[in-house]
Amino acid sequence: MVDLVAFSIAASVVALFVVLHYTKGTGWQSQPDISQDILEQRASTVPETSFPEPMNRTLGGGGGAVAIEGGAEGDESGELEEVEPDKQSPADMPEDEVEYFEVEFAKEGETIEVASNETILDQGESEGFDLPYACKQGQCVSCAGHIADGPAEDHVIHFEQETLSESEMDDGYTLTCVAYPIADFTIETGEAP
Ligand code: FES
Repeated sequence: MVDLVAFSIAASVVALFVVLHYTKGTGWQSQPDISQDILEQRASTVPETSFPEPMNRTLGGGGGAVAIEGGAEGDESGELEEVEPDKQSPADMPEDEVEYFEVEFAKEGETIEVASNETILDQGESEGFDLPYACKQGQCVSCAGHIADGPAEDHVIHFEQETLSESEMDDGYTLTCVAYPIADFTIETGEAP
């Protein structure tokens, strides 16, 4: 009997809460998202760095973007770093700046006109000469030739070669796969130092 009374009271209380819940609601309201405010507040306490920093702690410092636009250290202009003139390939020179020179291929018995924006090797091959080469990147000496008219660098520009020494180039040796003409000359192909 007692259990029945207790059960009835409990059921009534539950029913009352259910009715109140659906009539008035719980009164709970979501709070505004303050995470951005907290981030900005914390970022303002950290000094802004002037150098690219991966995952820069300060807002707006975004490592990747700054690293691309920042250029050299200390460059705050945001401009892209310019390529040094001597790092530019003669192959990229504007068409109206291209010059032409006479190059005698001694062993082939022919003199051809060569452009300053193409390598000696490529232009010799275009003429049908059977010239030696391997890497075509200035990293071996397969394409080496000898310029009979003096130091090689008085007659060609070598773009990115680290195989020949200064003295070998002074003796007239050149790597034809990375050599762009800047004067007339005679070359003996297939001649390595
Ligand atoms: S082919 Fe290798 S240096 Fe020219």
